[in-house]
Amino acid sequence: MTALIAANWKMNASLAGNEALLSALAAGIASKPACDVALCIPAPYLAQFVALVSQLPALAGVALGAQDVSSQPSGAFTGEVSAAMLKDFGCRYAIVGHSERRQYHGETDALVAAKAQQALAQGITPIVCVGETLAERDAGRTTEVVKRQLAAVIQANGHCISEIVVAYEPVWAIGTGKTASPQDAQAVHAVLRAQLAAASANASRVKIIYGGSMNAANAAMLLAQPDIDGGLVGGASLKAIDFLSIVSAACA
Ligand code: PGA
Repeated sequence: MTALIAANWKMNASLAGNEALLSALAAGIASKPACDVALCIPAPYLAQFVALVSQLPALAGVALGAQDVSSQPSGAFTGEVSAAMLKDFGCRYAIVGHSERRQYHGETDALVAAKAQQALAQGITPIVCVGETLAERDAGRTTEVVKRQLAAVIQANGHCISEIVVAYEPVWAIGTGKTASPQDAQAVHAVLRAQLAAASANASRVKIIYGGSMNAANAAMLLAQPDIDGGLVGGASLKAIDFLSIVSAACA
């Protein structure tokens, strides 16, 4: 399966900073990378990205993504960004259910499932994040938690489930420098793979990517696991040299 490396810039961007980062990425990336590469950027910069990519042909193969999407199609939802709006800017991906949104914005499994549904309705691939907290891991509840989170999305999206990407992101590994060991991550990915297979005959094509302190040093080991199909990269995506070396590891 073609690997997917998706950057999650989170709330880190500026017009000048984006220009510098995209220029550096353009200088180092193959114009047709042998894996899928996406940048999930803050919504206000979508237009800047589109304009810059037209000037930087080396980035033509890099897909655009958002970090969130509304659970509603349109209307009186102040501050929300709809899937149709993301589609207007050519977004191919939208992260849904990131743990920072579950934690700081109270997003429930049902809301995350509705967001995935909105993205799919516009032909945008939702990158559905699941992952346990440290307390849940310590209590031996990892499998139960990730399966519950994914089940809500499977239930709401039925036969479309083969069109999603799943990101396993243990909450305790995000931004902490603590990475799940390749074996621990693989074990959870295998559980998610089996859950998807039971839900849809076409689910074998669903990419299950890992996120949580993936960096240039640990990417190859994680990506070598049979059920780890790529990475969702936060901190290390903000430095071109680090992100490019993760992309090289995935494209190898
Ligand atoms: P991190 O973030 O790579 O900085 O741990 C990953 C994520 O939250 O998507």
